[in-house]
Amino acid sequence: MSVIQPIRITPSLLDADLARLAEQVAAVEAAGVEGLHLDVMDGHFVPNLSLGVPVVASLARHTKLLLDAHLMVTDPRKYAPLFADAGAGSITFHIETTQQPRELIKELRQLDVRVGVALNPGTPAEDVLEIVDQVDVVLVMTVWPGFGGQKLIPECLKKIETLAEQMRPEQWLQVDGGVNVETVPQVVAAGANTLVMGSAIFGQADPAAALRELRRVAGGVRRGTEQPA
Ligand code: DX5
Ligand code: ZN
Repeated sequence: MSVIQPIRITPSLLDADLARLAEQVAAVEAAGVEGLHLDVMDGHFVPNLSLGVPVVASLARHTKLLLDAHLMVTDPRKYAPLFADAGAGSITFHIETTQQPRELIKELRQLDVRVGVALNPGTPAEDVLEIVDQVDVVLVMTVWPGFGGQKLIPECLKKIETLAEQMRPEQWLQVDGGVNVETVPQVVAAGANTLVMGSAIFGQADPAAALRELRRVAGGVRRGTEQPA
């Protein structure tokens, strides 16, 4: 029997018009989303730079939405407290950055934030299975991190299925990279319950309308099948 759960959407601001950030955030907030996904890059773990602590601090003053910081940084232990202080309510580190994930999770818990772990496309599900029950979020990257607007790597779908079998319904199984109106059915059918989307929302002329359409498509898919519920 398949269980139908509401799908959460956390738009990624990477593809937003950053000169109109407050306006773009207000548009998706009014349309209804479960959080704002903030892609933090250090130019080392990934070959790019993006948003930093001051942007998160400014956003926290303008929105009540959960600020979901995706730390694509080599040293999450060093930077997580800064993002928590700035107002991030959820902090996700990459499993590839640490040999001691349990210790890091404990430290992040001290910051009083939701804690997530992310996996690159080349990292197997097995690398996080032992800690899955200790986090609030597992973020499966379906593109190599660093840039928005890439195509979803279909080989990552199996990993979503494997993780979905191990996770509780209230945990976020979040998928990030190349998720759009065409690929939403595949990732939801595989078991994702939380979708990060950048270009599929902010790359569109009307982000709120795009969001409504994406929610409609996501809501029509049953887990285990790409057919409408
Ligand atoms: C990529 C980031 C993503 C990115 C997604 O490194 O982690 O969150 O913004 O962008 P789209 O949805 O355009 O693939
Ligand atoms: Zn991301």
